[in-house]
Amino acid sequence: MKFLLFFLILTSSVFGAEPILPIPQYVHYDPSKAALGQRLFFDPILSRDYTISCASCHDLSKGGADGQCVSTGIHAQKGIMNAPTVLNAAFNFTQFWNGRAKNLVEQALGPIHNPVEMGLSLDEAVLRIQSDPQYRTDFLKVTGRSTVTENDIAVMIAEYEKTLITPNGKFDLYLQRKGKLDPLEKKGYLLFKTLGCISCHNGVNVGGNSFQKMGAIVPIERKANIDDRYSFTGRVRDKNIFKVPTLRNIAHTAPYFHDGSAATLKEAVTKMSYHNLGLKLTEIEIEALIAFLDTLSGELTSLTVHP
Ligand code: HEC
Ligand code: HEC
Repeated sequence: MKFLLFFLILTSSVFGAEPILPIPQYVHYDPSKAALGQRLFFDPILSRDYTISCASCHDLSKGGADGQCVSTGIHAQKGIMNAPTVLNAAFNFTQFWNGRAKNLVEQALGPIHNPVEMGLSLDEAVLRIQSDPQYRTDFLKVTGRSTVTENDIAVMIAEYEKTLITPNGKFDLYLQRKGKLDPLEKKGYLLFKTLGCISCHNGVNVGGNSFQKMGAIVPIERKANIDDRYSFTGRVRDKNIFKVPTLRNIAHTAPYFHDGSAATLKEAVTKMSYHNLGLKLTEIEIEALIAFLDTLSGELTSLTVHP
């Protein structure tokens, strides 16, 4: 990790390159698949009792998350993990806190048949979509087939999720030399790099591209029932390891961490710097880091897709 940090600082000082990349204005996607996926994303038909859609836990007006410590599924059942944002999820190298899904297509069916989320068997999901005349016609138009498969459902939803990107945030405009940061925000960015946050939170999503330990320097106790990397791989060294979450739009997705254990951004930054860098920051340092993190909020452009 030290080497990576050295490398990042070296490249940014020698080549003038920044370790964070702006979100592109556009990603390639298929508009007809995405439009169908958008309907599925907002449709409670995919939950057992027709009460919950993907958007219930990934509310686009709440930064693509749900504002709860852990999510609530059908029959008011509580899950064990905090809902990460779906905004810019397309840029993550794997999906879920522990990276158990390789991509958005692989991820999309998980919540449908998760008993504490939407609780619907995939056979039943296919049956429901197939028996709905409108969906049947629309899937036929897009896939050219008269039968719908579970993979088709996943593909459409994933295609819609690709559109959920947030370019043009203040920080991206700064990177592209189209805008300026205030002195406090700039100080925050400098601290973010020099303190070492950047060694784990970098790239286009300011995270989302590596697995790291929560408690890398000052360990925290692992909760027994948690979906960390260890719960997926069974390797002891993967205990308390998670995919580094994106910090894009972070000002809008409290509470924080895999279990929602930090209520505010101030608490998250304080705990992060202590447990993952071994630092006790001053009030002004924390304030500057938060001012910087606020500049990572962008504009949702998915409105180009209409059902
Ligand atoms: C009941 C709440 C709930 C519902 C409904 C739900 N999700 Fe999630 N979602 C979560 C939680 C909690 C996680 C994190 C679980 C984990 O990592 O173990 C998550 C993770 C994700 C991720 C991974 C993001 C990342 O950064 O790793 C994506 C993408 C996603 N959900 C999309 C969807 C889609 C698409 C649907 C509908 C088919 C959906 N979700 C339905 C709560 C929900
Ligand atoms: C060693 C790698 C590492 C370093 C260094 C690091 N982070 Fe993190 N960061 C993580 C991981 C892993 C998580 C997820 C932890 C969890 O959920 O328990 C995380 C989570 C966060 C979150 C909460 C995100 C969310 O959606 O819940 C914030 C905010 C954050 N980090 C900011 C920072 C700041 C600011 C710094 C520097 C002071 C920093 N991080 C340094 C790895 C790191």
